[in-house]
Amino acid sequence: MNNLKKIDPDIYDLVKAEEKRQKEVLEMIPSENYTSTAVLETLGTVLNNKYSEGYPKKRYYQGNAVADSVEILAQERAQKLFGVPYVNVQALSGSVMNLAVYLALLEPFKGKIMGLSLQFGGHLTHGYPASASGKFFQSVQYTLDENARLDFDAIEKMAMKERPDIIVCGFTAYPRIIDFAKFAKIAEKVGAYLLADISHISGLVVAGAHPSPVPHVDIVTTTTHKTLRGPRGALIMVTEKGLKKDPDLGKKIDTAIIPGLQGGPHDNQTAAIAVCLLEAAKPSFKKYSHQIVSNSKALAKELNDYGFDLVSGGSDNHLILIDLKNKNVNGAVAALALEVAGIVLNKNGVPNDPMPPFYPSGIRLGTPAITTRGLKEKDMKKVAKWIKAALDEVTDLPFPKDKEERSAFWKKFKSDVVKNKKLVQIGQEVKTFMVKFPMP
Ligand SMILES: Cc1ncc(COP(=O)(O)O)c(C=O)c1O
Repeated sequence: MNNLKKIDPDIYDLVKAEEKRQKEVLEMIPSENYTSTAVLETLGTVLNNKYSEGYPKKRYYQGNAVADSVEILAQERAQKLFGVPYVNVQALSGSVMNLAVYLALLEPFKGKIMGLSLQFGGHLTHGYPASASGKFFQSVQYTLDENARLDFDAIEKMAMKERPDIIVCGFTAYPRIIDFAKFAKIAEKVGAYLLADISHISGLVVAGAHPSPVPHVDIVTTTTHKTLRGPRGALIMVTEKGLKKDPDLGKKIDTAIIPGLQGGPHDNQTAAIAVCLLEAAKPSFKKYSHQIVSNSKALAKELNDYGFDLVSGGSDNHLILIDLKNKNVNGAVAALALEVAGIVLNKNGVPNDPMPPFYPSGIRLGTPAITTRGLKEKDMKKVAKWIKAALDEVTDLPFPKDKEERSAFWKKFKSDVVKNKKLVQIGQEVKTFMVKFPMP
């Protein structure tokens, strides 16, 4: 990055600081990963300079022969890897990808989405009232049962009553296997489209570490930057089943992306998606994905043994959700303490959380990124021990319910926590350990 260093030393220094941070911590946000150097190289190519509004062979601007080849390659690789007949690779992010599906299939303000409530592990774009999906479309939200599992009887009852146009399955904070066939039965019964948003688990799906939704659903969406380990971006895929229901489904989705929601695609991003799909088709990726799950299960066992209350009791995939109410510590407090200890994860709501989203009762963590670094099951003992030791520093730190008291508490906690000797010491141990594992 010699040019960057010369032209803009401020941004250069910030990039280097972030590189150092990523190298020295346990990166455990389940939606993050370390993409490959090849993907990063592709993002930084001259493909960034091109405007390619439209689709291959039907562009609005000239000079798109290379962009066409790039996009066709990305489409073909996705079709092969996921086993679907149609793919749109242009959505710039996961939020736009889901909005495009709704725009393609629903009449604004009349069409109805039925998704898992955010508080129970759904995503904002699955019909949350404050998101465009909940503002411009009607939305109803299902929840989980008392064991934090999908409650198919309740989902069916709600679908029969509400008659949604689209049912969304696939989640943001659900640590268990999703039974797509059961969702399909319900969607068929009420005549709804079934959308599987597999953003979190698509890497596991292509590797066979989680069942594929493709035989059961009409549309599959996924971001490309989570377990799939690619650049930021998204895929919208229509299955054979979806095309049988509506042969124009693909075309409708293309139109929803442009002119519906976007202008020009990011060709450098499309090319980097193609690279990540090539990497994800390799046997080494299969091994990697299965290791993610083995690590998550091993970590869940260790945390369980330490008395942590894991939502649903454990993990079948890449993520773990911990309810911290029994430790009498707020999720926001825990996440900040853990960051000082070099363990980076996120605060998260838990089912039936009495607390607001910014100060939720839980934390969410996952193994995709640390597995990319090369950590194995035996290392999870160490990781769990650090988490336990760090959280011991803040256990029984009651969180004020009153807003003003909370603000004073938070201010003091923020300044105190960075000076906590034990947390700083764990952070040093984590750093010494992690720098031994190469980062792409
Ligand atoms: C299930 C799911 N769908 C969609 C998204 C949105 O993706 P993006 O952040 O790229 O807009 C996310 C992001 O976390 C997600 O978890």
